[in-house]
Amino acid sequence: MNIILLGAPGAGKGTQASRISDGYGLPHISTGDIFRANIKNQTPIGLLAKSYIDKGQLVPDEVTCKIVENRLQEPDCKAGYMLDGFPRTIAQAEALDKITKIDLVINIEVDFALLMDRLCGRRVCKDCGESYHISRLNGETKCSRCGGELYQRKDDNPETVQSRLDVYNAQTAPLIEYYSKKGLLFNVVGNTTPEDVFAEVSKKLDALKQ
Ligand code: AP5
Ligand code: MG
Repeated sequence: MNIILLGAPGAGKGTQASRISDGYGLPHISTGDIFRANIKNQTPIGLLAKSYIDKGQLVPDEVTCKIVENRLQEPDCKAGYMLDGFPRTIAQAEALDKITKIDLVINIEVDFALLMDRLCGRRVCKDCGESYHISRLNGETKCSRCGGELYQRKDDNPETVQSRLDVYNAQTAPLIEYYSKKGLLFNVVGNTTPEDVFAEVSKKLDALKQ
């Protein structure tokens, strides 16, 4: 199964990706995580990506597409994979169509009014990448999944989040129609709990597996 997770910043792509990866054994490929790893290691790609990510803008298509193309050639993707945060533009979707076949696009729909709070209150595990929200952490500073330290992403501040949401509306939202026309889109309501969202997604994935 080759899957794409689509949704606005804060929709819960990463939260669902970790559940889907655990439940269905699919490698989780997040372009945001790849960029953050490159920033941490101060690679040339990291330096370039940082200048866009800090402003809430998209990293140029050529750079992003090349990274994904290389990643999909790795052996763990042979039996299927899950893309989180890619594609994010029509040009990226067209580039992807040239190198692979997608089976399903899961579009997580969330009221925009919820996203600012979700993102500004998010804490992320620095080791496994699991996402949490301060409202449910009760002061806990370690990851319940792996024990890693939790931190706040630099782009999770009101100004950068607003710019990420604007970029989503202008450049990423058109992908909903793009994949709907191809008959690949599965819409799931993301306003409910992570468990409820995963239950809906699981029903669809189980049906697809058969
Ligand atoms: P990326 O890391 O992909 O960020 P994003 O798309 O802005 O998405 P987020 O990771 O912020 O949100 P999410 O949907 O994963 O939400 P999460 O599950 O964590 O990209 C970062 C940057 O990299 C981009 O801005 C861009 O610059 C660059 N980039 C990446 N890909 C690119 C590409 N293809 N092309 C060009 N540039 C690219 O959840 C958020 C919060 O909500 C958490 O606190 C979580 O606990 C909570 N939550 C989740 N689900 C629920 C729920 N059901 N109910 C209540 N709370 C919930
Ligand atoms: Mg994410």
